[in-house]
Amino acid sequence: MKIIIRDINETAAACDALVLPFPEGEKSVPYKDINRALNNATDRIMSSKEFTGKLNEVCLIHTQGKIKPDRILLVGLGEREEITRDKLRRAGGRAASYLSGLNMKNVALSTRTILSLRLSPVDFVEGGLLADYRFTQYKKEEDRRGLEKLTILSDQDLHKQIRRLEAAVSAVHFARNLVNTPSNDMTPSALVKAARSLRKVSVKVIDRRQAERLGLGAYLSVAKGSAEPPKFIVITYKGKNVKPIALIGKAITFDSGGISLKPSEGMEKMKYDMAGGAAVLGVLKAVSEMKMPLHIIGILPAAENLPGGSAFKPGDVVKTLEGKTVEITSTDAEGRLTVADAIGYAKRLNPSAIIDIATLTGACSIALGNEAIAMMGNDGSLMEKMKKASEEASERVWHMPLFEEYLDYIKSDIADLKNSSGRTGSLVAAGYFLKEFAGDTPWLHLDIAGTAWLDKDRPYSPKGATGIGVRLLLNFLRLL
Ligand code: BES
Ligand code: MN
Ligand code: ZN
Repeated sequence: MKIIIRDINETAAACDALVLPFPEGEKSVPYKDINRALNNATDRIMSSKEFTGKLNEVCLIHTQGKIKPDRILLVGLGEREEITRDKLRRAGGRAASYLSGLNMKNVALSTRTILSLRLSPVDFVEGGLLADYRFTQYKKEEDRRGLEKLTILSDQDLHKQIRRLEAAVSAVHFARNLVNTPSNDMTPSALVKAARSLRKVSVKVIDRRQAERLGLGAYLSVAKGSAEPPKFIVITYKGKNVKPIALIGKAITFDSGGISLKPSEGMEKMKYDMAGGAAVLGVLKAVSEMKMPLHIIGILPAAENLPGGSAFKPGDVVKTLEGKTVEITSTDAEGRLTVADAIGYAKRLNPSAIIDIATLTGACSIALGNEAIAMMGNDGSLMEKMKKASEEASERVWHMPLFEEYLDYIKSDIADLKNSSGRTGSLVAAGYFLKEFAGDTPWLHLDIAGTAWLDKDRPYSPKGATGIGVRLLLNFLRLL
């Protein structure tokens, strides 16, 4: 969608629909010119309570040639005192989906009320852009509805903020596309292609043979059951000459559970087990587009987890890059094996911090639902920063403990560690497993199993892949 910013009156903005955000229960209409031109239509609609301004309420009015916009769309923001940045995003998302559902192409936004509330219209626009997403690649009939042009009516210079927003949102859409793509097409090799599509980064791909030579034994064990060749992908963006930050994204392109096979019900969703990797690719895309002054190394230990004649098995013992041995007690606890080797690899690059993002445990979504990312780590100040970044992005994180006692959960009789201890505390046991590999390096773990996929539409996240983590990590990197 093309976005332009113009300093003209609402009545003069030629468009299919002009969006007028509105707080709840206001007595007088803030859009006096429009109200007058439409013979008090907005006033009458409010006094008849056809529209009251409740959050996400909408009301479309035809202007019948009395002003330049063909229609106006009133959008509720809820009670004046309770309007937050995220409510603006939600209202913006609601407005965009409503209008694109009606096949509107050319829309304008009045920023008057949002500015008078001392809030930023950019948040409203963000919600609109995030909502304006559909995954249509596999549909024969091209029903690509979508907004084409947005005119923001403002006398403020929003250009820089809008350019940044566009880079971030296009990175979210990029990540959503990767995650929504089915695993027959979204293979480890396809992730390599996606990484190579990024500009201003260098991409190194470690294949099975090289990984064997390096000693990425835990990672490779996961890939053994699949005919899809594993690809350990390392992407470097160097916008500044400092120690790198390593961003690791779990990238299991399909998780059947392997020999510890998952139940078939809902298994189709396990194509989203590479959502962490997609988020990392999205972040690198935006960071390089914005030329951020950072040094980032993205690592995607990509593989497919399938059962088969050559698959790894419960009881096997594998050797990690770090040298620690791991007894496999469940082939379905594969993510921590791949991420552990990625952490080992990252440590050799002498990073200032390691962040991993992964759809690691079903227990994460059982504990927090779709509402928050589970955060764990060994460094208080990293976690503080992540918390702050999460509040701004409204991609919430919730801090989970890594008590020493959890070490007992992953002790093995025959190896240094085991990869699964069953269901008790499996969210934090998985985190603790990774902590054993991070050692003294500042490290933070984000479990996005509950937030990376939605079964129902939300105001600015259509159902399916959410692209979670992209905006959070971009905010986090900006705070460093
Ligand atoms: N990819 C799954 C976690 C998952 C489950 C993500 C549901 C999204 C939705 C992970 O590899 C897994 O299977 N974890 C197991 C661990 C268990 C064997 C200790 C789990 O959570 O059941
Ligand atoms: Mn699994
Ligand atoms: Zn998995």
